[in-house]
Amino acid sequence: MTVQALISLPGNESTGAALAQQLNVQLLVPEVRAFPDGETYFRLDADLRALSTAIVCTLDRPDTKLMRLLVAVDNLRHRGASCVGLVAPYLAYMRQDTSFHPGEAVSARAFGAVLSQHFDWIVTVDPHLHRIRSLSEVFRMPSRAVHCADLIAEWIASNVREPILIGPDSESMQWVREVAAKAGAPYLVLQKVRRGDRDVVISLPDMQRWHEHTPVLVDDIISTGLTMNATLRQLQSAKMRPAACVGVHAIFAAGAIESLRTFRPTHIVTTNTITHSTNAIDVSRLVADGIRSIAG
Ligand code: R5P
Repeated sequence: MTVQALISLPGNESTGAALAQQLNVQLLVPEVRAFPDGETYFRLDADLRALSTAIVCTLDRPDTKLMRLLVAVDNLRHRGASCVGLVAPYLAYMRQDTSFHPGEAVSARAFGAVLSQHFDWIVTVDPHLHRIRSLSEVFRMPSRAVHCADLIAEWIASNVREPILIGPDSESMQWVREVAAKAGAPYLVLQKVRRGDRDVVISLPDMQRWHEHTPVLVDDIISTGLTMNATLRQLQSAKMRPAACVGVHAIFAAGAIESLRTFRPTHIVTTNTITHSTNAIDVSRLVADGIRSIAG
């Protein structure tokens, strides 16, 4: 059923407003705050009876947001909303898609199960699908992933001369190959070994034939920034031109952007799936199309 109202949770107001405009529906902004004991307060003063709705909440730093989502969706359903979808431009926990060591939780499955119990559908942007091949493996509700390869390719074509696209690891292959094809540029995919949360090693092939090109690092997530840092370090050692860094999801853990800047990249650019000062690629039209395709 066609979405009639979007409800933006805190931090998602501009995304909600852009989507409401694209979809020509009302945007409702609830009052959400923490009680002195840290518990969540939620109030939405609107008539929700028989309304098809969707909550807009990107899911970086997801643990606090999950409780807000659960309180919000319960409120909407009890007040008569006929449908509650979830628009999460960034979808958390997808990197924890297997047990690497005995006893480790497969958080992707746990997170997907909780969301599936409460929402009618979900729309997201370029989720980190690796060992889990499709969103239907973690969600029991209809799901739609939209892809921003076209938008990234357009940005590169307009901003970088003679690019050579670089994917830092095999997991980035899916993004880099598609973006390179659309931008009409060559690409390389490197080998990465992650030895711990904050220990990443990248190996670079001989770069002699690419010396006249500008490296453009393309990855889905910039979190600690260590993957891009290790790649930039190798490119500097190989005497390549200063590189540009392009990420889909701007998580940027503490200190990440500062350490990336020490390598003096020509650009650090992300999409606005997570609001950040590096946002330069707007995905709202894409996300609106995803909502239309799943909810009419
Ligand atoms: C992992 O395979 C992803 O594609 C990214 O390379 C990774 O999540 C980046 O994380 P970080 O910025 O912490 O190195």
